[in-house]
Amino acid sequence: MDNRTNTIAGWVLAGCGAALGLSIVGGMIFHDGPPEKFGFPIEAAEETGAAGAAEVPIATLLATADVAKGAEVFKKCAACHTITQGGPNGIGPNLYATMGEAIAQGKAGFAFSDALKSKGGKWDFEQMSAWLTSPRKFAPGTKMTFAGIGNGQDRANVIAYLNAQGSNLPLPAAPAAGAAPTPGPAPASEGPAGAPANPGGKADPTTDDLANKATPATGAPSVDPAAAVRGAKEDAKK
Ligand code: HEC
Repeated sequence: MDNRTNTIAGWVLAGCGAALGLSIVGGMIFHDGPPEKFGFPIEAAEETGAAGAAEVPIATLLATADVAKGAEVFKKCAACHTITQGGPNGIGPNLYATMGEAIAQGKAGFAFSDALKSKGGKWDFEQMSAWLTSPRKFAPGTKMTFAGIGNGQDRANVIAYLNAQGSNLPLPAAPAAGAAPTPGPAPASEGPAGAPANPGGKADPTTDDLANKATPATGAPSVDPAAAVRGAKEDAKK
């Protein structure tokens, strides 16, 4: 190998080093954002339990439901249902004032299936949402041959419309999923008291420092006590 080859090899190596460094710095910058974004659904899942973590609760969707849009959605139902007061039963029962009523009862003697009759309980918002998501899953063997409404907002709109036809139940309170931060244990590193804990105070562009900056931001509106502990630990590390 002559000098020239060594020089070329040297530059190639330096280039690799620079690319690696850039990708590490890029990674640090990139990872600074997402934890806040992705951290939230995890906290919500912890609070509400594992059930239906991916689904937006029907109460939340009902808060912004639109009765007029629900009337549009109801056109899908009108093939089998009337909803005017005293309207006749068709393939399906008349649905006037059904919200709040006992499931598969009354309706001028409509012949409900045993599948639906055996459900028991009342048509509250949760039950109606489950029924309209998939009638077949809600009451296996039901006579309502309707696939269901997968879109949550459409479902909320049509439920709001049903409710407006003779029932007028109060809408359920939407769960305060982050809308109003619950006062929780503030991370130990919060506030001016945290400042003296870092006597150096110099900006240190290491991964650790970025993590420390991100932690109070993620922990602040949270009710996750682990965040406070994590914050305290990271403070102690400084
Ligand atoms: C293909 C016809 C058909 C369509 C379309 C249909 N339904 Fe039904 N529906 C029925 C039948 C039949 C029953 C009775 C089910 C049973 O007894 O198992 C029923 C029952 C119901 C009940 C129970 C009523 C009670 O008193 O317990 C509700 C609520 C309901 N339907 C709402 C809807 C809504 C809302 C839509 C539109 C999104 C819809 N249905 C679309 C046929 C239909």
